[in-house]
Amino acid sequence: MAYRWSNDLTRADITPEAVFMNRRQVMAGLSGIGLAAMAGPALAQEELEPNTWEEVTTYCNFYEFGTGKGDPAQYAHRMTTKPWAVTIDGMVDRPGEYGLQDILSEMTIEERIYRFRCVEAWSMVVPWNGFELADLLNLAGVQEEAKYVSFETLYRPSEMPGTQYRVLDWPYREGLRLDEAMHPLTLMATGIFGKPLPNQNGAPLRLVVPWKYGFKSIKSIVRITLTDKQPDTSWNMANAREYGFYSNVNPNVSHPRWSQASERRLGGGLFARRQPTLMFNGYEEEVAALYDGMDLTEHF
Ligand code: MTE
Repeated sequence: MAYRWSNDLTRADITPEAVFMNRRQVMAGLSGIGLAAMAGPALAQEELEPNTWEEVTTYCNFYEFGTGKGDPAQYAHRMTTKPWAVTIDGMVDRPGEYGLQDILSEMTIEERIYRFRCVEAWSMVVPWNGFELADLLNLAGVQEEAKYVSFETLYRPSEMPGTQYRVLDWPYREGLRLDEAMHPLTLMATGIFGKPLPNQNGAPLRLVVPWKYGFKSIKSIVRITLTDKQPDTSWNMANAREYGFYSNVNPNVSHPRWSQASERRLGGGLFARRQPTLMFNGYEEEVAALYDGMDLTEHF
């Protein structure tokens, strides 16, 4: 595993200056103590103690395998992940099918320990292995007109028993604004705990956006499209009142059916102490500038 940061954000036009500067701080040390110190006292070191392998791999959301938290661990082994390719198309200079091995040969894999906060008000801390999404987008060459990135999960009913139910409009879809996608915290994860991603966690390639609710972290990605229009996202299509496009972790904006002000860290039993949810999941210093001037109650 290499410990080098290869990506250079040169497209300052799509990246606010503050974020560009922050990149250096981010590079200064993302895992463990470095991140805790950088994100301020609220993000205590204690809270970045990772959850266990067992917790991360058996309490999952991957509706293609069923809506129960245990369904993905039980059924996702049916998904074939070799060979794997990602189609990158839309407003890019080099559209096409990118084989996973070819992608990985260009990427620097890094470990990042991120807090992961779900809209259902639980959270866990996961040591991810992966590379920056920006590096992949740069490989394809993002064109000037592009403003958004849309993502699609594999849709293969023969291997995905949950897709026979129309709980979501398959394939699972997500989207980011281009500056969010290019942010150095935005990760394409290929592993957890230094091991390849288990299928239930989105093998072989999934998104991780640590300042957004977990559902933005689309799994088992097969298509990435650069576009100038805000893309459809599965949860927004299913229930626009409850799930907005931005989906930023925001303790001040309640989900229509429950408060988002606190969370329960998974592990430690049912009676584990609830803790206050932090703005942008504790990554405020790094990402708040992306939303300057936006009304986050409207763009939730
Ligand atoms: N990606 C796909 N393709 N299908 C899904 O159902 N669920 C999302 C997200 N990505 C989901 C998905 C939700 S709701 C969450 S909370 C996270 O995955 C869960 O990731 P984890 O199971 O690795 O903790």
